[in-house]
Amino acid sequence: MERLGVTETFAGVSLPGHLHTQESLAFAATFTFRPTDVVIATYPKSGTTWMQEILTLLFSHGDALPAKTIPNWERAPWLEQIYCRAALPDAAPRRLLTTHLPARVLAPALRQGKAKVIYVARNPKDVAVSFYHFHHLAKFLPDPGSFDTFLTQFLEGTVHYGSWFDHIKGWLGQQQLLDIFYVTYEELHQDLCGTAQRLAAFLGCPLGPETLGALEQHCSFAAMRDNTMANYTLIPSEIMDHSQGRFMRKGVVGDWRDHFSPQQNSTFNRRYQEEMGDVELPTRWPMA
Ligand code: A3P
Repeated sequence: MERLGVTETFAGVSLPGHLHTQESLAFAATFTFRPTDVVIATYPKSGTTWMQEILTLLFSHGDALPAKTIPNWERAPWLEQIYCRAALPDAAPRRLLTTHLPARVLAPALRQGKAKVIYVARNPKDVAVSFYHFHHLAKFLPDPGSFDTFLTQFLEGTVHYGSWFDHIKGWLGQQQLLDIFYVTYEELHQDLCGTAQRLAAFLGCPLGPETLGALEQHCSFAAMRDNTMANYTLIPSEIMDHSQGRFMRKGVVGDWRDHFSPQQNSTFNRRYQEEMGDVELPTRWPMA
């Protein structure tokens, strides 16, 4: 398939050439946002797909039809990917967009357009594990090598999509500048309904008990794992080798404990402290 081995570099970050070109990246960086736009911003493997599903159900007032009939990449197009320009519903009253780009690239345009942003973060140890497994099925990402090799690159920020530390610090730094809502993967796990209510309040979107019930049902891991419009099984096997694993892999908190050696854990903790020691986070992840 096209450009599977190509890497694009943009704003110092490596990105898969299968999904991005310099033109598509420039399109994202200069995008004209509207105050009615809602943008999901994440580092990969942080709960992006989950948030796309939650917002789909929220905006449809609990009607599961869009979630069951339209692929998530059409419901919430990826701003920086090649297909976005053609996929964007220009006349839509409310556009839902998704991005993995760093804040320093998008923040000026978001500020200008007064769009709303939802930033989803996840314990970076679980992000690293999930991202490692994802490299095995995604043919547009490089061979990750051993978990140890991958983890070193993750901590150095040389993996595709760049440094997790830079990503979260960049978006956290926008708190006073953007209309932004921070949420963690772990909060979604702990209290999906409560988090959906807070999201609804942020978005000014009514949320009755029936919508909440439908959201709870359709956004569960089991429902999403079996929903072809959310689980990426529609992507051909030349691009995602489904024999190598599932996009909807485990969906749990703390899977890193089954992957990290004591040595890897202490290296990670040291680096985490160096990078995040002074940073105010919406939640503290259990790192021990
Ligand atoms: P795991 O690989 O740990 O299972 P993203 O959408 O940002 O790429 O994140 C993918 C991760 O979110 C995967 O993690 C996936 O299983 C998890 N995920 C997606 N939907 C979920 C849900 N409804 N509940 C729990 N985890 C979910």
